[in-house]
Amino acid sequence: MDSFISWVGGKRLLRKKIISLFPAEGVERYIEVFGGAGWILFGKDKHAGFEIYNDINSDLVNLFRVVKFHSGELRRELYLTLNARENFNDFRSQMKAQGLTDIQRAARFFILIKTSYGSDRHSFGCIRKNMAKITEYIEKVSERLNTVMVENKSYDALIKLYDKPAALFYLDPPYHGTEKYYDNKFTDADHKKLCEILKQIQGRFILSYNDDDFIRDLYKNFTIIEASRSSNLMQRYAEGQKKFKELIIKNF
Ligand SMILES: C[S@@+](CC[C@H](N)C(=O)[O-])C[C@H]1O[C@@H](n2cnc3c(N)ncnc32)[C@H](O)[C@@H]1O
Repeated sequence: MDSFISWVGGKRLLRKKIISLFPAEGVERYIEVFGGAGWILFGKDKHAGFEIYNDINSDLVNLFRVVKFHSGELRRELYLTLNARENFNDFRSQMKAQGLTDIQRAARFFILIKTSYGSDRHSFGCIRKNMAKITEYIEKVSERLNTVMVENKSYDALIKLYDKPAALFYLDPPYHGTEKYYDNKFTDADHKKLCEILKQIQGRFILSYNDDDFIRDLYKNFTIIEASRSSNLMQRYAEGQKKFKELIIKNF
């Protein structure tokens, strides 16, 4: 199934390729470390008996938790919401304030993603949305998340917590050079630290990155597979590229 949101760096276009590289056997737990919109998680009915979705963005994780545990209440909250610029601006300022319930916060965050330009949550997109259809889909997403554990940790703590020989980690960190598009700062020191952690894990991993010399050098001792996908609108506009080169790195 599809994810229910768009997200910067979302793997919608690469999900088939990435999932085709997952091991066919011996995976007891599947851990998506940099979850975002979860395109790879949702790309299959079940990746393992035990699945974990994680992201450091607490508003995003709150949205996933509310979809999982309170989908009916979320749908009711969304049902009353108009797709209007005034609402959009109000929601943006309310997200910075305190006093919202988790369900109200999740609804506002969801609307900001759905009605902003390029899902950037900052500029109103003037897009017509069928809220009835969108909220209906939340029920299906909620069912898929039924068996998924939702975590809100940094990658280093999460990997240590869930590593074991029968674990499969899928990692999609902020791409090198694009870290500014995310709320959480991800530095060169983080890219290096992640690599050091991955060198020592007991389980298997698949990692996505942009094709970049710094990353190629960090992971030179692992299997590196080149992939390409159509560029998104922003890349086409800024760099005139039709294709965007990616790397898929694995330890098996
Ligand atoms: C490229 S996006 C993941 C996109 C996702 N694979 C998808 O298909 O939508 C990277 C994600 O990493 C998260 N992130 C950034 N720093 C993190 C950290 N230290 N630990 C865990 N997640 C982090 C960001 O919030 C962002 O959602």
